[in-house]
Amino acid sequence: MIGIFAPRSAERLTGLGTTIFAEMSALALRTGSVNLGQGFPDVDGPRQVIEAAVQALRSGRNQYAPGWGVPELRRAIAQHQQRFYGIALDPDTEVVVTTGATEAIAAALLGLVNPGDEIIVLEPYYDSYVACIAMVGGVRVPVTLRAPDFRLDLDELAQAVTSRTRAILLNTPHNPTGSVLSDDELRGIAELACEHDLMVITDEVYEHLTFDAIRHRPLCTYDGMLDRTLTISSAGKTFSFTGWKIGWATGPASLVTAAMRAKQFLTYTSGAPLQPAIAEALGLDDTYFDDFRADLQAKRDRLCAGLDAVGFDVYPPQGTYFVTTDIRPLGFQSGYEFCLELPGRCGVVAIPHEVFYDDKEAGRPLVRWAFCKQESVLDEAIERLGRLRS
Ligand SMILES: Cc1ncc(COP(=O)(O)O)c(C=O)c1O
Repeated sequence: MIGIFAPRSAERLTGLGTTIFAEMSALALRTGSVNLGQGFPDVDGPRQVIEAAVQALRSGRNQYAPGWGVPELRRAIAQHQQRFYGIALDPDTEVVVTTGATEAIAAALLGLVNPGDEIIVLEPYYDSYVACIAMVGGVRVPVTLRAPDFRLDLDELAQAVTSRTRAILLNTPHNPTGSVLSDDELRGIAELACEHDLMVITDEVYEHLTFDAIRHRPLCTYDGMLDRTLTISSAGKTFSFTGWKIGWATGPASLVTAAMRAKQFLTYTSGAPLQPAIAEALGLDDTYFDDFRADLQAKRDRLCAGLDAVGFDVYPPQGTYFVTTDIRPLGFQSGYEFCLELPGRCGVVAIPHEVFYDDKEAGRPLVRWAFCKQESVLDEAIERLGRLRS
């Protein structure tokens, strides 16, 4: 007898569904909406970096790159960490190039976490953390950053540690809240990690996207942290090449090697001609980084002012390219329902925070808007959102 094949997937994927970013970007396309949902810029990064990639494509750099990454990119990453943070790294043993930060996160968790281990994670969390922790059989233990200021409660963090805690998975500057962990918060995390002998995996993809006088400082620069921190970043956000998916993990050879052991069986390697171009990007002078920050800060201010005028409670971010609002002043309660209805009502797409929390109530009225868009696009979104008032 020929049976009917029933669709099935592994239990570890139960509940993961489709990422909210894909869902909302598809909705934006279907409805012709202004997409302030997914965090990608709508202009390309520096011309000279594109030219460097073209040059690499034309000069035969089209076969597998080494699994660890091409030497000039590993060197450039090490030099970048030295230049901006005074961190000394051996590019041959303490740096691995990955397919975006996404693969670095997956490889780190696969390489460092055993089934049943607890991983403390800040919520709202970036959604790949949840998926990857589930895929390695780990147990996520959320610590909530709460509106309006989204600060880390160090007591809550300490209470989350148990004898089964394997690692803390951090993200600063933090998506989606836009908070940048302060010196006191980072010092508190470092002390806790040392006291309980924990590893920390830090996702710092927004390291150069900080505003006003706030600057990102990597956790690994705090006392006792160099040997126990795996630092992850990527070129996507810093250079506006999110589609290139060139990321990296740096840290002590033991942690980097563990991530590499997993990574070699995920992609092994990717983006061979893009890697030398990103090496060039990392060496751009300070003007690039300063101008980029200033440009985004102006866009932050533009969108925050617009959202405020529409009537939302606005929580201006210290970093990243997202701003969070509370929708209740406009009479809405559920961010998720609001975001599903928004394209039909106004022709704008945003992302509900709720999907990034275990504590759904904490995220229910919050909505995230991306401002890494051209000013005319931000203005158009604000004009359309004006319909919410009528
Ligand atoms: C916090 C965070 N980590 C990682 C990523 C993914 O980075 P990549 O595109 O380099 O894989 C993103 C992208 O939005 C992010 O917001």
